[in-house]
Amino acid sequence: MPILVGHATAKGSTRGIAEHIATGLDRAGEVVDFRPLADVTSVREYETLVVGSAIHNGQWLTEATAWVERLGPALTGRALWAYSVSSVGATSTILSPRLARYLRRVTPEPRAVQTLRSTADVRDHRSFAGAIAPGDWPGFGRIVFRVMGGRYGDARDWNDIDNWVAAIRADVVRDRR
Ligand SMILES: Cc1cc2nc3c(=O)[nH]c(=O)nc-3n(C[C@H](O)[C@H](O)[C@H](O)COP(=O)(O)O)c2cc1C
Repeated sequence: MPILVGHATAKGSTRGIAEHIATGLDRAGEVVDFRPLADVTSVREYETLVVGSAIHNGQWLTEATAWVERLGPALTGRALWAYSVSSVGATSTILSPRLARYLRRVTPEPRAVQTLRSTADVRDHRSFAGAIAPGDWPGFGRIVFRVMGGRYGDARDWNDIDNWVAAIRADVVRDRR
């Protein structure tokens, strides 16, 4: 059975992470279905799903949240690995390190992930830092971004993502036995 690697992205950094996850699983010998969540209309053929979204205003993107609401009930008992891509990852950040430490402590899980926990067998939810370019954050948000010590650039921690992929793969192999 293929593993679904699904994503929702606004500016592309989440798609890049999803591609990296899909490539890692593929190299390890898994059959992978790499797709934008908006294109996934059924989960019947997946026993394992790796599903994530960029974060806007603390939540998964609208299409990812809609996907969870639509297909959540069909995910009962399926192994699911969730990831969120924002300014602050578990191991890297595009904000100031001090603010990132604070935000890691106080930021609640996105509602879509909480919803997933009520149906799917959520094995883990991982936060990754993404990337941001001038102009990505519109209007007043740009000023807030600067005040928060934000620096334009790419903060994706590929090592952390590789380690997560290895954990998923080990889990898939364990389940198969
Ligand atoms: C409109 C907008 C709102 C955002 N809101 C948040 C937020 O609430 N928290 C956060 O940590 N990052 C926030 N970000 C930063 C993005 O999550 C980050 O740049 C991520 O890498 C975007 O992923 P993407 O390139 O796949 O769209 C926001 C970015 C934009 C453009």
